[in-house]
Amino acid sequence: MEPDDQTTHFGFRDVALGEKQSLVNDVFRSVASRYDLMNDLMSGGMHRLWKDAMINALNPPRNDAPFALLDVAGGTGDISFRAAKASGYGFHATVCDINGDMLAVGRERAAARGLDGAIDFIEGNAEELPFPDKSFDAVTIAFGIRNVPRIQKALDEAHRVLRIGGRFLCLEFSSVDTPGLDKLYELYSFNVIPRVGAAVTGDRAAYQYLVESIRKFPKPKLFAQMIEQAGFRRVSYTPMTGGVVALHSGWRL
Ligand SMILES: C[S@@+](CC[C@H](N)C(=O)[O-])C[C@H]1O[C@@H](n2cnc3c(N)ncnc32)[C@H](O)[C@@H]1O
Repeated sequence: MEPDDQTTHFGFRDVALGEKQSLVNDVFRSVASRYDLMNDLMSGGMHRLWKDAMINALNPPRNDAPFALLDVAGGTGDISFRAAKASGYGFHATVCDINGDMLAVGRERAAARGLDGAIDFIEGNAEELPFPDKSFDAVTIAFGIRNVPRIQKALDEAHRVLRIGGRFLCLEFSSVDTPGLDKLYELYSFNVIPRVGAAVTGDRAAYQYLVESIRKFPKPKLFAQMIEQAGFRRVSYTPMTGGVVALHSGWRL
């Protein structure tokens, strides 16, 4: 069955659109306390380099100029912590995520780092962001969009809350098309990741979903078209690590 208006993918399974979000929420509720450790284990630390590339592209002001970042599906706040480190005193981040367990881990980390004044954690759905129009200078979403049932709706919302001249950046797993690397990546994804996930979090199914959801995500060119469809201009993307990950960018002009 190909997904239509009423169905979507949950990994390799076709599920009703309305069912996907609660399945995704179960995954992240289950892995929240071990999520950051698992990122390092699964990517061999590479997620740090990919996220740093996103922060370089974001290029937040290092002076006192006000800069409001919205990090959608921000989970435990990793992107916002990195952005705060690269920014000046005018920086403020709002981490918005649908999962209270992921946000709770982030809030604790922010307090431990003395960043609770600079970073807020707000529960909300990427498909219906609880923020006014044109209220942020930049919107980021890292490894989040493929989990959202209605991707186009989330892109429309990112566009709505960005001010004119603001930038949207999306980091997501992509498709490896380098001969040799693709087979290796396939083997690693389907054999190693669910096993490591099971050993560390006790939830093999969660990591099986994560690798399957990567395969089901649109190819980078198609995803760029979806970003344009939301109204963004000067849309571009940069594949990284042989296409394991892509950084998409668009501007609200
Ligand atoms: C793989 S984690 C990424 C977390 C963080 N951005 C990072 O890079 O470390 C995906 C996150 O997407 C969130 N998420 C899934 N569906 C969402 C939705 N509809 N709206 C907002 N967040 C959502 C999950 O709760 C989870 O925290």
